[in-house]
Amino acid sequence: MTRLHTPLNELLGIEHPICLGPMGLISTPPLVSAVSNAGGLGIMGTANYDHEGLRKAIQETRELTSKPFGVSIMAGFPTAEGHARVAIEENVPFVTTSAGSPKKLAPMFREAGIQNFHVVPTVALAMKAKGAGCTGLVAEGSEGASFKSRDEISTLVLVPQVVDATGLPVIAAGGFGDGRGLAAALCLGAIGIQMGTRFIATRESPIHDDYKAMLLRLAETETLMVGRKSGPLRVARNACSNRMEEIERNTDDPAELRAHIGYQHFPKAALQGDVEQGLVVAGQIVGMVQDLPGVGELMERMVEEAASTLDARTQLAR
Ligand SMILES: Cc1cc2nc3c(=O)[nH]c(=O)nc-3n(C[C@H](O)[C@H](O)[C@H](O)COP(=O)(O)O)c2cc1C
Repeated sequence: MTRLHTPLNELLGIEHPICLGPMGLISTPPLVSAVSNAGGLGIMGTANYDHEGLRKAIQETRELTSKPFGVSIMAGFPTAEGHARVAIEENVPFVTTSAGSPKKLAPMFREAGIQNFHVVPTVALAMKAKGAGCTGLVAEGSEGASFKSRDEISTLVLVPQVVDATGLPVIAAGGFGDGRGLAAALCLGAIGIQMGTRFIATRESPIHDDYKAMLLRLAETETLMVGRKSGPLRVARNACSNRMEEIERNTDDPAELRAHIGYQHFPKAALQGDVEQGLVVAGQIVGMVQDLPGVGELMERMVEEAASTLDARTQLAR
């Protein structure tokens, strides 16, 4: 089998430089362990866990895989420090932080010898994360699913600038779905990629079948950013996001915006399969999602395609 060797493989002891992005309700023990067992790095979403819930999920994942996996912590949430302590006590080797400043958490992870990559949408925030002591970065462009920065910098533009400005190891995220994208990320200077949308559409993903079926139908033009006034969030266009857009047009009241726009409508789509009235979170790469492979099959074909793409492009420079 083809292998791509990057510094991420060495850093984390993994076979493929491909990470499962943390996603509440989705990146739970079954999918996290499936990605790690297939040679990538599963990263657990913690948004739906309290501290003991996170500890249980980490222990459950350990029963499903002996390979490394990571957890992700929402740095600006009140649960952050408690989640960080659990990750340290449970000896998780890799933690990503997002949605807030890593200033408080980065020194805790550094002292515990844990790799801490912070998710950044701009060069300025990447420099701040470096200053806080993070050991690496996830540079995530605006084409990706879920919470996004108002600056809306694309992955293609963001990754090489973050690599150059910080000199830190960088995982590229936002808009990856095949081996050509993986090859492109490595050419931009990243040491690996993180995917959300593409991994939701796999056999092992614990999400309602109607959500997966919707991802197969959507074109690249059928996502939008809602919450531009309250906290931008990339989602699929449907009755739910149309209603959110309408509310945003009609009010500036923060309490009303918060009450109607956000993840509270996600379980309806993710668990109950109501993909019209519920929030379908997806990135622009959804237009490329055409099948529901197993995660192992998906990763193997991506690595094969990345290797042959890199090989073929080398022939161009003569
Ligand atoms: C349903 C959903 C929930 C997500 N939750 C989180 C989260 O809690 N923390 C985080 O850092 N990223 C979160 N993300 C972002 C993903 O981890 C990943 O970085 C992103 O989906 C990459 O872009 P892509 O969808 O184009 O692959 C979420 C994405 C989705 C689709």
